[in-house]
Amino acid sequence: MIASKLLSRTFLRYQSTAAAAAVAYNSKNVPVHQTKLFINNEFVESVSGKRFEVINPATGDLICDVAEADKEDVDIAVAAARKAVEYGSPWRTMDASQRGRLMYKWADAIERDLDYIAALETLDNGKPLNDSRGADLPLVINTLRYFAGWCDKIQGKTIPSDGSNFVYTRHEPVGVVGGITPWNFPLGMFAWKIAPILACGNTCVMKVAEQTPLTALYVAKLAKEVGFPEGVINVLAGYGPTAGRAIAYHMDIEKVGFTGSTEVGKLVQEASAKSNLKRVTLELGGKSPNIIFDDCDLEQAVAASHMGVFFNVGQCCCAGTRIYVQDTMYEKFVERMVQKAQQDRILGDPYDPRTNHGPQIDDVQLNKILGLVESGIQQGASLQTGGAQHGEKGYYMQPTVFAEVQDHMDISTQEIFGPVMQISSFKDTDEVIERANNSQYGLAAAVFTKNVDRMYHMCTALKAGNMWGNTYNVLVPQSPFGGFKQSGFGRDLGEYALSHYTEVKCVSIAVPQKNS
Ligand code: NAI
Ligand code: MG
Repeated sequence: MIASKLLSRTFLRYQSTAAAAAVAYNSKNVPVHQTKLFINNEFVESVSGKRFEVINPATGDLICDVAEADKEDVDIAVAAARKAVEYGSPWRTMDASQRGRLMYKWADAIERDLDYIAALETLDNGKPLNDSRGADLPLVINTLRYFAGWCDKIQGKTIPSDGSNFVYTRHEPVGVVGGITPWNFPLGMFAWKIAPILACGNTCVMKVAEQTPLTALYVAKLAKEVGFPEGVINVLAGYGPTAGRAIAYHMDIEKVGFTGSTEVGKLVQEASAKSNLKRVTLELGGKSPNIIFDDCDLEQAVAASHMGVFFNVGQCCCAGTRIYVQDTMYEKFVERMVQKAQQDRILGDPYDPRTNHGPQIDDVQLNKILGLVESGIQQGASLQTGGAQHGEKGYYMQPTVFAEVQDHMDISTQEIFGPVMQISSFKDTDEVIERANNSQYGLAAAVFTKNVDRMYHMCTALKAGNMWGNTYNVLVPQSPFGGFKQSGFGRDLGEYALSHYTEVKCVSIAVPQKNS
C-alpha cells in the first residue's frame, strides 16, 4: 500500500498534520469509548448479557471487554435494518445527493478524530501507529468520499425495446446487507464494504472480527452524530460461528459481503444456498506470485517485493509471497532481500514512530506461521533469515526469508499470512507463467521488467484479479479489487463494486400508439 505513490503522498500529508496535533498516544492512554453493540442508532448490551475480551497483540494484555452478539442480536439488528430500508422510510425517500452528503460528513468526522482512531486501531490490532495513521485511516476516509460521490450517479438505462412500451431500468438497493469483515485492516475492510453498501441505498448489519471490534464501534457513534437515520448502520461485535453464521443463514438478509479465509467463504456461500439464496461476494485468501525478470530495475524490484510481503507483517490477502526470480539475477536478489529483511524491519512498540513491524494478531496466527515455517525447513527450503518468534511479550514474528523454495512445498502453496517470503528461481517466460498460475488462488500478481512487450504479455497471461507492473500493493478506492479462482468473486472498490449492491429492475410501461 505504502508502495503506491498516491498513498505515500497522503501518508506525508497525514504525518505532518498528526505531528502538528502533537497528541502522544501510547498503549496505556488510549481511551475506549464504545464497547456495546450498535443497533438502531443506540449502543446496547447483547441479549444474553455476554461479553468477551479484547487483547492487545503487542503485549498480550487485556484492553477491555465488549458485548458479544449472537443470533438474537443479529435478529434485532436485521429487523432495524429492514424497517430502515423499506419503501417510504427516511433513508429510502432521502435524495441520493443527501445520502452522499451524509457519507462525506461521516468521512469528515473520522478525519477530525483521525489521531484518536489511528491510536485505537493500533491498540486493537497491533499495527504500527505510522501505518494506522498513514495508510489505513486515509484509505478509510478516501473510500467513504469516493463512494459518497457515486450516490447520485447510480443510474439505469432507457431501452429501445420491441413493441410499444417505454422500457427503462432502475438500479435499486438490494435491501439489508450483512457485512462480515476480518482483523487485518479492521476499519479498512469495514469501509470497503460499508461505503458501496450505503452509496447504493442499502442498510446493513456489519459483523466485525472478534479480534478487532473497537474502531468500527467508535465510527458507528460518528455515523449517528452526523445524522444517519436509525437502523441504516448496525455494528455487531461477535464470533464467526455464532453471530457471523446467523448473518450468513439469515432469511431476511438479501446480500452478504465477506472478507476472510477461503474456508469460511465456502461456508458463507453454502449458507446462502441453504437459506434464502442471498447474494454473496467473497474476498478470500491468496498466494500471489511476484515475478522478477533480470532486465528489471533491481532496487525498484527489491523495495516493492519487500513491502509486498512485509507490509502489515504479511497479514495481507494480496501479499506477494511466491517470488520467482530469473536465474541470472537470483543470487543477487536473494542477497538483497535478506539484507533488507534484516536491516529495514524495525520490530518494537507500535506507538514508537520508528517501528514498522508490529505483532501478528494473536497466538493462533503466530502458531500457524511457526508451523508453516517448520514445514518449510522439513521439506528442504533454505531458511536465510528469521524463522522464530521475537521477544517474550506479544505475538511478534521475525521477518523471515526462504530461498530455494520448490513449488510442491506447503510454504509455496498455502497462505501463511505472516512475514515469511518464499523465493525460487525460473529460466524462461512460459515456465514461470505456468508455475505462477498453478495455484488454487488468483488474487494478485506482479511482474518486474523494463521490457514493454513482456510486461503486456505477462499481464495478459497471469490469472489474477489485480496485476501490478513494476510496483506492488496499489490499493486505491477508484480501482476494483478482488480475486479469480478460490480467492473469491465480486469486486470491492471502484465502480465495479456498485453492481454487487444494486438489483436491476426493468420497467415496461405501455405507450399508446396514437394520441387519443
Ligand atoms: P476467518 O475467515 O475465520 O475470519 C474472517 C471473518 O469471518 C471474521 O469476522 C470471523 O468472525 C468470521 N467468521 C468465522 N467463521 C464464520 C462462520 N462460520 N460464518 C460466518 N462468519 C464467520 O479468518 P481467521 O480464522 O481469522 O484467519 C484464518 C486465515 O484466514 C488466516 O490465517 C488467513 O490465511 C486468512 N484470512 C484472510 C483474510 C483476507 O484478507 N482475505 C483476512 C483474515 C484471514
Ligand atoms: Mg476462522
